[in-house]
Amino acid sequence: MAQYINKGILLAGGAGTRLYPASAAVSKQLLAVYDKPLIYYSLSVLMRLGIRDILLITHVNDEDRFRALLGDGSHLGIKLNILSETRPRGIANAFLIGEDFIGRDNVTLLLGDNIYCDTGPLKSAAESYRSGAVVFGVHVTDPSEYGVADVDCYGNVTAIEEKPVQPKSDIAVTGLYFYDDTVVQIARGIQPSERGELEITTVNNVYLERKQLRMVTLDANLIWFDAGSAQSMLNAGNYISSLESTAERKIGCIEEAAYLEGFITAGQLTELAEKMPDTDYRDYLLKLVR
Ligand code: DAU
Repeated sequence: MAQYINKGILLAGGAGTRLYPASAAVSKQLLAVYDKPLIYYSLSVLMRLGIRDILLITHVNDEDRFRALLGDGSHLGIKLNILSETRPRGIANAFLIGEDFIGRDNVTLLLGDNIYCDTGPLKSAAESYRSGAVVFGVHVTDPSEYGVADVDCYGNVTAIEEKPVQPKSDIAVTGLYFYDDTVVQIARGIQPSERGELEITTVNNVYLERKQLRMVTLDANLIWFDAGSAQSMLNAGNYISSLESTAERKIGCIEEAAYLEGFITAGQLTELAEKMPDTDYRDYLLKLVR
């Protein structure tokens, strides 16, 4: 079935201050969560949504490291462009950096520190996407750290507040968003918040005012992490390590995503794996094609 959303922006810049000193010399999205770099988890989600045309935005100091890790994506059957920000101006600045990339198309934005341990419901939402904005909510115990969706008695979103001191609900808006091409114009028209950032929540509220925003509330079984702090990175790593050993499947494996989506053949996957050092990761990939 033809999908209406085929481009993705992966946001992997930012200051990473919450992870200092671990992130002092290297982007947090290149740090390991269990057995792979944090960026693998979000990149593999975009790929499982069937998205092959990807723009990765990072800090100018990390551009070469991302290129060393991921190249131009051709080995994974994707087209990966890399652009950089000189300083973090806010998440919505991604649409200004990515304006030419977006052009007249719909676009997915995924924050590079978000980890989704299942992609089924996200994929269904991508397949049914037609226009406007779609956000993904989850019930959390500490909503004040996130964008929080206020909902009416029918479950419709009435407002989204960024990191409210007194949250009106326990529904966090996670770091995956679908937009149509008007997002560029909207991002151009918004003002920086009190903390000086172009907030993604401001963009979402514009869509909401236009009655063009829909929220998909994810089931509690869909485990999601915002791995933006040392503790949440550790929690995510522990969870993934235990899941990978009991379920014998990997989360965030970009080569597997490429193979499952038909971006590369079994032969190409074997070739990729055979070039890797002798690790469990390599064995896992080889088992997939056996
Ligand atoms: O994780 C979900 C939350 O992400 C949402 O609930 C919030 O509404 C949203 O604002 C965002 O909050 P965070 O405080 O977690 O955002 P953070 O500053 O950590 O940035 C998220 C990612 O985007 C991170 O990988 C760094 C990157 N980033 C961020 C900014 C502000 C950039 O590349 N450039 C930037 O200017």
